[in-house]
Amino acid sequence: MTEQELQLLIGLHSDTPRQGPGSPAETRKAMALAGIDKRRRIKMADIGCGSGAQTMDLAENSNALITAVDLFPGFLERLQRNARAGGLQDRITTVEASMDNLPFADEEFDVAWSEGAIYNMGFEEGVKQWRRFIKPGGYLVASEVSWITGARPAELEEYWAAQYPQIDTISGNIRKLEQHGYSPTAHFILPEYCWTEYYYGPLQKRFPAFLSRHGHSDAARAIVENEKREIGVYEKYKDYYSYAFYIGRKIS
Ligand SMILES: C[S@@+](CC[C@H](N)C(=O)[O-])C[C@H]1O[C@@H](n2cnc3c(N)ncnc32)[C@H](O)[C@@H]1O
Repeated sequence: MTEQELQLLIGLHSDTPRQGPGSPAETRKAMALAGIDKRRRIKMADIGCGSGAQTMDLAENSNALITAVDLFPGFLERLQRNARAGGLQDRITTVEASMDNLPFADEEFDVAWSEGAIYNMGFEEGVKQWRRFIKPGGYLVASEVSWITGARPAELEEYWAAQYPQIDTISGNIRKLEQHGYSPTAHFILPEYCWTEYYYGPLQKRFPAFLSRHGHSDAARAIVENEKREIGVYEKYKDYYSYAFYIGRKIS
């Protein structure tokens, strides 16, 4: 992707409520499965936080100190504004860093959290590298696009081989947690509304204004066509893939 395409893509997603599938209810469900005690002052990292929809949900439903990380400062600025508006600025700190080179100390966090972002370095690499930041007995909680059936149509396999060849089954990802020092305590599949109501719906609504802002340039139209293609693939093949939340407890 060229720098111009990247900036256009960030611009399209810059004021959407979230940048990937998910929902407040699913975030709370994963928090409960990771045994997050609402009263305890734990330390959490939220890696690939985007504009921080789930960071706000995490903060509102816990007493945690949260370090929210993303590569793009525009997303972090939006999260800072939302944190101030919600009176949560004392518990949410933002860090501009790459998820494969995080400036954290060993065993700094009780929980490493990541929604819809670990794919940027690959699920296996993420669970391997982030383990050292988690306290023994602490949790890694990550949502990852996953096959939800044992077999699937060739056209879909080809699509994902081009987009993200590391996509795996739920059992395959659980195996990776086991292989890299976690007990896979729970997992669940995100329901359809996490894609449609919370992600694709708000994104689609922004296509006309985005195109007009960029004078219907070839580059802007290509970005929108690509998003429409992704949405079309999801509508056709949603029985075969979704995001899944994985909850792993770090074992010594
Ligand atoms: C699909 S979005 C998910 C954002 C957010 N967690 C959510 O669910 O709304 C993926 C996020 O990963 C961030 N990202 C991409 N590459 C990254 C990297 N190398 N290090 C840190 N963040 C990265 C993007 O800026 C984006 O905010």
